[in-house]
Amino acid sequence: MEMLDIALPKGRLGEKVYSMFEKAGFPCPSIREENRKLIFENEELGIRFFWVKPSDVAIYVERGAADIGVAGKDILLEYEPDVYELLDLNIGKCRMAVAAKKDFRDNVNTTLRVATKFSNIAEHFYAEKCRDIDIIHLNGSIEIAPILGLSDVIVDIVETGKTLYENNLEPIETIVPISARLISNKASYQFKNEIIEKIRLGLSEQVGV
Ligand code: PRP
Repeated sequence: MEMLDIALPKGRLGEKVYSMFEKAGFPCPSIREENRKLIFENEELGIRFFWVKPSDVAIYVERGAADIGVAGKDILLEYEPDVYELLDLNIGKCRMAVAAKKDFRDNVNTTLRVATKFSNIAEHFYAEKCRDIDIIHLNGSIEIAPILGLSDVIVDIVETGKTLYENNLEPIETIVPISARLISNKASYQFKNEIIEKIRLGLSEQVGV
């Protein structure tokens, strides 16, 4: 039988996502055994789960190495992978926001220096406002940038706001709300439609509004 390959985001969100698959009738008990394996198979159901870095899920799905997967809307907006977005799982909720030091005042006559991991999202956001910016692409600990004077503002994910608060920054503007999405490879959606639709339905029944 042909397997359905499912890419799950490694980490806390992934655990939640796996539980939803389990409840939807697509379990893979061996996944709960504590070990460092990355691939788990339920031969009977014809499904195979694998853990990947959350930001890599969309790459696996776009290229067809995974048929479906779960990725954050932040990643989908940033990389714009050519995949179908099938369902908002309503978990992993946070927002993409602009933040700055508390005393920050925007001077529209100068180029705004924006530090972020999400260059594409930031560029789109400011292009719409016709605001001239200079993107400083960083890979993490973005909150440091305005503190050290590397940037004027940051564009980053805010969940509880604790990281901003503890670094004396404050959110200025929300760009877009973020949550986890079920995505599908386009060809897989056509050729493995029955099982993918079953999964989508089983997951959708658990989505609280
Ligand atoms: C994100 C984000 C913030 C933090 C916000 O980092 O970059 O640093 O979470 O959460 P809070 O509002 O609840 O404090 P993440 O943990 O995803 O890791 P990262 O540093 O790799 O971005």
